[in-house]
Amino acid sequence: MKLGTQDVLTALDDILHTLHAYRDRGVAGFDCSPGVRDRMAAWREPLCTAEPPGPVPDRVETLEHIRRDLGNCERCGLCRLRQHIVFGAGDPGARLVFVGEGPGREEDLRGEPFVGAAGELLTRIIQAIKLTRDQVYICNIIKCRPPRNRNPLTEEIDACRPFLDRQLAAIQPEFIVALGKVAAQTLLGSEVPISRLRGRFHDYHGMRLLPTYHPAYLLRNPDKKRDVWEDMKLLMREYGHAP
Ligand code: URA
Ligand code: URA
Repeated sequence: MKLGTQDVLTALDDILHTLHAYRDRGVAGFDCSPGVRDRMAAWREPLCTAEPPGPVPDRVETLEHIRRDLGNCERCGLCRLRQHIVFGAGDPGARLVFVGEGPGREEDLRGEPFVGAAGELLTRIIQAIKLTRDQVYICNIIKCRPPRNRNPLTEEIDACRPFLDRQLAAIQPEFIVALGKVAAQTLLGSEVPISRLRGRFHDYHGMRLLPTYHPAYLLRNPDKKRDVWEDMKLLMREYGHAP
């Protein structure tokens, strides 16, 4: 892997941020004795093996129950770097769920999905379809922030996926909007580019899944907002909200 200056600066920033968070929680130093170093070396292996992604479970459980079951999750290596698990937020009975990729820096700090710059744009998109964030549910493919916001690894997705599927089974939304390539390709088990997945509904275990571009991608490519607006108009028509 080739690291650029910006990558190194971002990584240093991450480390500093983590150390500050430890300090704020009363950590005064680190134990670097040989036994501890051996234990930390073993962390390179995933701590637990995940259940394979399967169909949406049909058992009825509440989001609170699923959150309790997730606990202080250590099912993949991301647990070591996160500040907060970002479980999801919104109406547990929502007709519409937005699924993003994974928490970024702001989300990790606050434990809430889509509260950074991309989140502001998502909020505006939700307002444009005449809804509020409280009326929908917002979550992500993975619940912990990957270092430097890299794409989630397969093992991270596999560890987290059962919880997302259980959330969807609990909420039973009619509509899912998959935000961006990672969410769309992961949920649909497809390698088709997002540019070809978007623009129409796909079936996801009886729910109607609409892939569209990720708001962070829109911030970098504002010319794609037009496509997202087309997708949102399609969604509104089916949702029963006239554009
Ligand atoms: N990007 C995502 O995919 N999810 C978030 O929660 C924030 C930014
Ligand atoms: N690539 C992504 O990861 N997401 C998009 O929405 C578009 C391109």
